[in-house]
Amino acid sequence: MNNFTFYSPTEFVFGRGTESQTGELCKRYGATRVMIVYGGGSVVRSGLLEKVKESLQAQGISFCELPGVHPNPIDTKVYEGLELAKSFQPDFMLPVGGGSTIDTAKAIAAGYYYEGDFWDFYIGKAKPVKALPLGVVLTIPAAGSEGSGNTVITNTRTHVKNGLRMPMLLRPKFAVMNPELTMTLPAWQTASGISDMMAHILERYLSNTPEVQIGDRLAEGMLLAIMEMAERVMKDPMDYDARANIMWCGTIAHNDTCSLGRQEDWFSHAMEHEISAEYDVTHGAGLAVIFPAFLQYASTHNPHKVAQLAHRVLGVADSGNPSHDALQGTMVLKTWLHDVLHMPVTFAQLGIPSPDLELMNTRLHKLKGEILNGYMQLDAAATLEIYKLALD
Ligand code: NZQ
Ligand code: ZN
Repeated sequence: MNNFTFYSPTEFVFGRGTESQTGELCKRYGATRVMIVYGGGSVVRSGLLEKVKESLQAQGISFCELPGVHPNPIDTKVYEGLELAKSFQPDFMLPVGGGSTIDTAKAIAAGYYYEGDFWDFYIGKAKPVKALPLGVVLTIPAAGSEGSGNTVITNTRTHVKNGLRMPMLLRPKFAVMNPELTMTLPAWQTASGISDMMAHILERYLSNTPEVQIGDRLAEGMLLAIMEMAERVMKDPMDYDARANIMWCGTIAHNDTCSLGRQEDWFSHAMEHEISAEYDVTHGAGLAVIFPAFLQYASTHNPHKVAQLAHRVLGVADSGNPSHDALQGTMVLKTWLHDVLHMPVTFAQLGIPSPDLELMNTRLHKLKGEILNGYMQLDAAATLEIYKLALD
């Protein structure tokens, strides 16, 4: 196991009715002027936004609102938020929604104290040294941004979608998580969220670091539980306990609990970000297309962890041939994503019958380097092969 530092100060307030504590929590973390950020209207329709505002008012906290965050959030909304912040001068950010809303709020939080263009942070030109604190009211378990120090934004001019990872600055102070709020999610978003959190677990699981049994067993346990809960929630969207388990899984899948002391591999995410940047598809659905292709490639080129996954999670018997078992496991997972979650598992099913693979592959390596150095060493020919495996 490698050395590590783990700093995860978020207070998670979980369960029925917890959104009514939002104002109190904001006050406890020093908020007096709050910028509320939200998406395309689900929180208005559900009445959640009104409840959040009432709870702020009850604590004497003033607020402004930034509505209209789009899934796969874009830089222009961040610029709009920074303008609003200049005039309102908030001392706390409060995204109410999912990963897109939270990531936009984090970008504003980091950009607020910076003289230059906030996008500098996302291309490694500068590092934020100070950020506005934030709290979250979560409405969709998926991206895990409520417990992570990450934010992912797309640049509308260059079509670059990239992340910024600053756990010391950008982990939320608190996250309000009421599983009941997720019952209004369309099945597609529920399933895409599950696919995303499974990928977050697998990106950490695919590691060559030896002797990381705690992380491995946590990951395997989470995958077994999430697959069971996913089957329940797809049959009955009002199953509170399934919703609750899924919601908590989304957080610990991505708050680094299961990746401590090990090398991680985020390149299937990077490959998906090229798809959602170019074609604006739902992130979790893009992953359901890329991840099986990535595992299939690994089955031939570095099968040991995929074979372990197949044996311990996917019900494949140990044949003594890791490549064979890894491929079997990959097919079990691909079929499960398709049959149970009703996720697309090919580009055509994702609605992109003729994707521009060369364009995405060139952008990928321009952003991440000539060789993607993770669980495998992937040059441009290798990643192109993975993209091609996702065609059918
Ligand atoms: O915009 P509204 O109207 O709120 O509708 C949203 C949106 O259309 C809807 N929704 C959310 N909660 C709902 C609801 N509809 C009904 N009832 C509810 N309770 O769901 C849609 C998707 O929302 P979004 O915020 O985009 O979802 P998600 O949490 O999956 O976030 C995806 C974004 O996060 C990034 C992804 O790349 C993508 O841009 N990621 C962020 C990460 C991070 N910060 O750590 C890591 C991830 O790997 C990921 O890359
Ligand atoms: Zn993700």
